[in-house]
Amino acid sequence: MINLTYSEAIESVMDANMKTRLQKIQDDLYTKQGAGSDFLGWLDWPSSVSDDFITKIEETAKRIRKQADVLVVIGIGGSYLGAKAVLSSLEPYFPQEDKLEVLFAGHQVSGEYLKQLLAYLDGKDVVVNIISKSGKTTEPAIAFRFLSDYMEQRYGAGAAERIIVTTDAEKGALRQLAETKGYERFVVPDDVGGRYSVFTAVGLLPIAAAGHSIRQLLEGAKQAEAVYKDAGIESNTAIQYAAIRHQLYVQGYTTEVSAIFEPKLSFVQEWWKQLFGESEGKEGKGTFPASVVFTTDLHSMGQYIQDGKRNLFETFLLVNEANEDLEIFETPEDGDELNYIAGLSLQEFNHIAHKGTANAHLSGGVPQLSLTIERLDEHEIGHLLYFYMLSCAYSAYLLGINPFDQPGVEEYKNNIFKLLKKPGFE
Ligand code: PA5
Repeated sequence: MINLTYSEAIESVMDANMKTRLQKIQDDLYTKQGAGSDFLGWLDWPSSVSDDFITKIEETAKRIRKQADVLVVIGIGGSYLGAKAVLSSLEPYFPQEDKLEVLFAGHQVSGEYLKQLLAYLDGKDVVVNIISKSGKTTEPAIAFRFLSDYMEQRYGAGAAERIIVTTDAEKGALRQLAETKGYERFVVPDDVGGRYSVFTAVGLLPIAAAGHSIRQLLEGAKQAEAVYKDAGIESNTAIQYAAIRHQLYVQGYTTEVSAIFEPKLSFVQEWWKQLFGESEGKEGKGTFPASVVFTTDLHSMGQYIQDGKRNLFETFLLVNEANEDLEIFETPEDGDELNYIAGLSLQEFNHIAHKGTANAHLSGGVPQLSLTIERLDEHEIGHLLYFYMLSCAYSAYLLGINPFDQPGVEEYKNNIFKLLKKPGFE
């Protein structure tokens, strides 16, 4: 569950006008009347996903673990960040022997990265999962050209059993290629946009392949789906988060800085930035989503947050319990002068660092929110990601924006096609 708190400086946002607007958004959302409502497939996905579908993902994941030492996931944007966010939150910090390693490609275009990746794969057994809803995005297509060629050279006809395609049911070059080559296929549902697709095969297959419980992830999302659908506006934290960030935006706080103390959440921040930035940043509007990792960035960006231009607010994303921890121990000589905190765990240190930071930034005029989850596990992460997706829809609708299209991203993609003189785009 998510616990939302906010600084006293943020006055109650739920005046009668705001309540009426939110009620209308809620009604439109669940009756599918709002802008972009063709893309609301994610809204009841956790509660409607079939057991057969989950089992099929789990079976493919099991097969991948048997076949491979490394799974290379190719994708960009929403076809990359969901799996990356969940895996970074759940995987150990350092590689473990006998555990499938999940690596990513096609999320940028670096020849150096791709060349070194191909070299790294030598001597390891590999499976590739290429993910692209449209099936025609340039960056993953480039990476796949190299990786499919590599797979064919290494495995010959057997490469087809080691390449899995996640794409549209009907459209796109990738769909056609999968058919021709006989690759196993998973579908990105028509009514789920890239950045809302983490609970579909887009996110679930890489997450399951790495050995994490997608049932627990979906349970967490399902719990969130039920909680925020049923809670009245005033007790609905997903709606409150949207309403507060909207009120701050109207007051001139146009940058939201997500701040974490657990570095494993840094890709949840990247996913969140894509979700909110791509959903809201349109028509000259939208809060700019930024992120910092504390305490690291307290020694750099902390200065700006404390004392720079006053157009930002800070949202802490906190974890109550650490999965693993260490305690500071006493030394007889106390050369580093740390004996005064002997007995303190590092998680306790971070809780104190959070309090100290929050007080300092508050006195510097930075309005603050905190979102706290209990621990880093599949259930909590599933709940959190659904919470964000729902809040984002409310937040964009409060701005009068369609949360589910991305005309700016399409413009970039088409410009690249034009510059590269792709047939049909010259
Ligand atoms: O959220 C979105 O729609 C985008 O960020 C896409 O996910 C991204 O551009 C990748 O598109 P595709 O999955 O079609 O390759």
